[in-house]
Amino acid sequence: MNSFGKLAHGISHFLNRLRFGKGDSYEAGAFWEHRHAKYQSDFRAVADSLADAHDRYPKQKAQFLKFLEETGIKLDGGAHCIEFGCGNGFWTKVLLDAGIQSYCGLDISSTAVRNCKTSIPGGCFERVDLGEEDYTPRQPADLVFSIDVTQHIVEETKLVRFLRNMVTATKPGGHIVLTSYSGFGDGYADDETMELIGKFVKVRKLRWVYAWDLPTLKKHLNGCDLIASAKFWDKTVFAFLRQSGLEQARTTVSG
Ligand SMILES: C[S@@+](CC[C@H](N)C(=O)[O-])C[C@H]1O[C@@H](n2cnc3c(N)ncnc32)[C@H](O)[C@@H]1O
Repeated sequence: MNSFGKLAHGISHFLNRLRFGKGDSYEAGAFWEHRHAKYQSDFRAVADSLADAHDRYPKQKAQFLKFLEETGIKLDGGAHCIEFGCGNGFWTKVLLDAGIQSYCGLDISSTAVRNCKTSIPGGCFERVDLGEEDYTPRQPADLVFSIDVTQHIVEETKLVRFLRNMVTATKPGGHIVLTSYSGFGDGYADDETMELIGKFVKVRKLRWVYAWDLPTLKKHLNGCDLIASAKFWDKTVFAFLRQSGLEQARTTVSG
């Protein structure tokens, strides 16, 4: 990025901080609704740039399908899937094309949900703030997954609810697959442009990205066992198995 790009980036962070900042966190509902309303189904609603549509997303699609296959998570033969943070519905199409039986996508933005309902007739979509509201599915899923969302749940109390919702949405014996910047660092750190702006105005970058580490994810995915992980673009993808009733009972008895 050249100096002009860096300055524009810094100024947009600064304005976002004023508009959506809330203490050490952010107003997630207003932030994401603004983004989805501004870009509609354009990839910039969910990604940094349009280039991601041609580069990152196709590569992530290949990585994701390979990871599911190597982990033994089957998509054909009647799988029911729920996605947390479905955005523009990119992964809806990937999984429907891979042969799943049914799909439900959840997102905090009503614009995202409305656009998905219009453009993808094969899925069901609902507006839910998964960090604030309890979610109980009509039918628990074989696979509950979330791509590029945990880093945008920046408060641990909200992460706890988000992950508990994932467990509730999964059938005993089903799988949870999610990504995290695990080990990558905290997006809260100010960059050089923000440091420069900070010399004149007392403001920090909007804290809308946080890298949860694996121990934290494991701690809050109660009754689930980590079964696989792999590199996923600049993040890590993890697969967990929700214990069946029998295994849960054993865990409870043994401690
Ligand atoms: C970076 S985008 C990723 C979207 C999609 N998974 C993808 O890979 O293209 C994050 C998405 O999560 C949604 N989101 C953020 N916080 C959420 C929350 N608390 N509950 C539900 N959805 C949320 C946003 O509206 C956005 O669509």
